[in-house]
Amino acid sequence: MESKIIEIKYDLLSLEELNDKERELIERAKDATLTSYSPYSSFKVGASLRLENDEIIIGSNQENIAYPSGLCAERVALFSAGTRKESVVAMAIAARDEKNQWAKAFPCGACRQVLEETQRRGKKEICVLVLLSENQVLRLENADSLLPFSFSF
Ligand code: THU
Repeated sequence: MESKIIEIKYDLLSLEELNDKERELIERAKDATLTSYSPYSSFKVGASLRLENDEIIIGSNQENIAYPSGLCAERVALFSAGTRKESVVAMAIAARDEKNQWAKAFPCGACRQVLEETQRRGKKEICVLVLLSENQVLRLENADSLLPFSFSF
């Protein structure tokens, strides 16, 4: 038998500790929460992606009365980026709860799978930034550690 351990390296930073591009991406994800359509959960998620040409694409969760028809903020943004030839180099996520307070939202499993494939397709590491609270951000160098044993065939 062989046992292995997977380690995840991540950074915890304040907004001031981010570089300008990272801070801008977080701000755009925060702004994107304002475009969320979430009358059923009242949980507003915003995602922003930086392309290699520095263009920023946003997404927000879009719900539907037929609940499973809705889509997470991350996949709204990632699938939109899929229509572009430039690779994605960074993603930021921000969320507001029903009291309009900043709340942490890690990407769900399905979004992680799409993120993993977006990174593979673009052949560039995607840095991931998650706003944890008013002034704390979690940063991952790339999307690899978010979904160990991701599906592929
Ligand atoms: N949601 C996202 O937008 N991203 C995630 O990674 C997890 C959940 C949305 C889906 C739904 O509209 C709301 O948050 C509550 O689950």
